[in-house]
Amino acid sequence: MSGAKRSRTMRRSNLRATSWGLLRSARNDDGETLDFSLTDTQKEIQSRAREFAQREVAPRAREADERREFPRHLVARMGELGFLAGPIAREYGGAAIDYTSFALVYEELGRADSSVRGFLAVHAGLVAMCINDWGTEEQKRKYLPRLARGEWIGCYCLTEPNAGSDAGSIETTAEERGDDFILNGEKIWITNGGIANLAIVFASRDRAARHKGICAFLVETDTPGFNREKMPGMELGHRASDHAHITFENCRVPKSALLGAPGAGFKVAMSALDHGRLGVAAGALGVAQACLDACVEFARTRKQFGQRIGNFEMIQQVLADMAADVDAARLLVYRAAWLKDQGERGTRETSIAKLFATEAATRAADQAVLLHGGRGYSNEFPVERFYRDIKGLQIYEGTSHIQRIVIARDLLGKE
Ligand code: CAA
Repeated sequence: MSGAKRSRTMRRSNLRATSWGLLRSARNDDGETLDFSLTDTQKEIQSRAREFAQREVAPRAREADERREFPRHLVARMGELGFLAGPIAREYGGAAIDYTSFALVYEELGRADSSVRGFLAVHAGLVAMCINDWGTEEQKRKYLPRLARGEWIGCYCLTEPNAGSDAGSIETTAEERGDDFILNGEKIWITNGGIANLAIVFASRDRAARHKGICAFLVETDTPGFNREKMPGMELGHRASDHAHITFENCRVPKSALLGAPGAGFKVAMSALDHGRLGVAAGALGVAQACLDACVEFARTRKQFGQRIGNFEMIQQVLADMAADVDAARLLVYRAAWLKDQGERGTRETSIAKLFATEAATRAADQAVLLHGGRGYSNEFPVERFYRDIKGLQIYEGTSHIQRIVIARDLLGKE
């Protein structure tokens, strides 16, 4: 075995042997140093993402939130920057970057605006990467380059009124008729649903078979019988995200639209969530970092009782706890991304990262609003938006309860 391969194998088995391996020691048993640093390429992608997020996304986030309008002009820009299909191979229009780099992109976007980061986690994580994993050569060549350039937008149609956390119980049906399938049913909370050109739609051809009856379809949104409207009501956060209610009325799609084998749709859905959840975890890390940055700045500059408030130990405690949470979330997010770079699915580690990072960011946003006092209660300061947005990250792509179920099942095994 070559030195590099042996080192990689050993690092992987060490990491698998104890999930604390990465955190406990900077050296493994053989005296080799575990490397916490980013490569030059990863640093370059991070700084490109940071510059874009801080110059082009953050300054307009408040306006987009107030207008409840997705800043669509950013899609083409993200395409130019190679973010829309990051880890996908160049032959399909992707940028062929590693998962760690892609997590850095999500993190930087999350620091600026969760609505934009949420767009990407669905478009790239749930749609483009799912087609990359499960699509035929023809499907990949047809759809991936368009998604990568941002000419087409993708959405992922899983959630229904009676099937949220229990995704295996979807009621949308796919009836086989000759060379086609006829889709009927209803989907809710579909991010990008109102602006998408392509939808991955999950429907059952045999409801009695539960998840084994589910099929995944690539449905172009101009197909007759694909109807969409904005979700009713005003969301707590993610007000610049596009959330749609979609109905299928005798929507006819050819059998060639199947993504994966008939009946494999539940696995297609879950594997896509392994990608998407990493995007949510990294985005939550970005929110937590943004809260910490805002609090440090405020604690340095805000004066009360004749001195900066950062001199008070109660404020210092908040900052120190937040910094510890941010560091822990970062290590978990980067570990999950790194495992994917080693060719592993990393389902448990991704759920751990999503669970911890979203909960840590929720604590951070709660404390950030309090620390900013009256200013934190107004959209004059972005912490007010972070506080509203972060609840969404705890819910979508699997609530914190669901992440705990995924983790516990992996620990206990299936009975
Ligand atoms: N990759 C591949 N296959 C997987 C998998 C994965 N990550 N996870 C499970 N599977 C397979 C299992 O191995 C099993 O296969 P076999 O039948 O061959 O053994 C099959 O899928 C069924 O698995 P389970 O028995 O574990 O299924 P379950 O019905 O008990 O559900 C669950 C498990 C984890 C609760 C799952 O339903 C779940 O993740 N629910 C949450 C759904 C969710 O995240 N929804 C978010 C919607 S998307 C969204 O929010 C985006 C948006 O637009 C806003």
